[in-house]
Amino acid sequence: MRVALSFARVSQVRIVFVNTAEHDAEIQDQFTKQAVPFLERHAHSMDGLLELMADCAQVRARDTLLDVACGPGIISCFFAQRVRAVIGLDTVPAMLESAKRFQAEKQLHNVEWKLGQATSLPFAEASFDCAVTRFSFHHFVDPKTALLEMKRVAKPGGTILVADVTPREEVQDRFDYWEILRDPSHTRALTLKEMKGLGEDAGLELHRESHFGLVMELEDLLAGSFPRPGDAERIRALFEEDIQADRDELGVSARRDAGAIQITYPVAVLAWRKQQ
Ligand SMILES: C[S@@+](CC[C@H](N)C(=O)[O-])C[C@H]1O[C@@H](n2cnc3c(N)ncnc32)[C@H](O)[C@@H]1O
Repeated sequence: MRVALSFARVSQVRIVFVNTAEHDAEIQDQFTKQAVPFLERHAHSMDGLLELMADCAQVRARDTLLDVACGPGIISCFFAQRVRAVIGLDTVPAMLESAKRFQAEKQLHNVEWKLGQATSLPFAEASFDCAVTRFSFHHFVDPKTALLEMKRVAKPGGTILVADVTPREEVQDRFDYWEILRDPSHTRALTLKEMKGLGEDAGLELHRESHFGLVMELEDLLAGSFPRPGDAERIRALFEEDIQADRDELGVSARRDAGAIQITYPVAVLAWRKQQ
């Protein structure tokens, strides 16, 4: 099944047309497959990014926190050691099963899990001191509504934090192209300007911004991904070309290091405040 995906540009904003039912099925398929490998590969990686998120969120021990699109619970369990109570929400049951196992391993008693959609959060207005999400916006068909939902469930004065990949505008289409080949549940990654624009449109005040270079080996990344038959080879060929041309058109500073292809994802961490 191919997700029907097309783009239109209206002024500075690109609109993505996606068949949402097909996209939901793709999300279920990809993340059911990824539920165990994602946790195994990333439970103890990217510690620097977690610390950056904590620094931007500025949580207090008495806070309640919502982790939207929590996956196998890495972010939820990280923040559970810093706040009073956490709820992790995801739309894929297998991810929540992985999250429960991770929570048990960490012996955390202040985390709960909820099945649900980022665009219609099953919580009352002003329920949480902080709402966070990592590596999810590039899977959403409607990131604007997801951000508005995070704002709705945050308390006045509360924090809304998004961490995600933000390619440069001039390589955004190429970035999305190879990412969709690698993971067909990818919709599109927002540029930093678009991400900030979503916050402005939502009436949020940006109070922290940080950036992180997520370094990975291409083969390692592919080993934890589930592309369609033949697409891993296509991706390898694209990266060979990108390195040869030395123009960074795939948006991840691809280079060869000791024989292996290394890439660096540009990740932005933005933390907004909801007005009192
Ligand atoms: C790349 S994983 C990131 C997991 C976790 N946030 C982390 O950074 O470790 C993306 C997650 O988003 C979830 N997801 C995608 N679309 C969603 C939606 N509309 N509502 C809730 N969860 C969603 C997927 O099921 C998956 O677990």
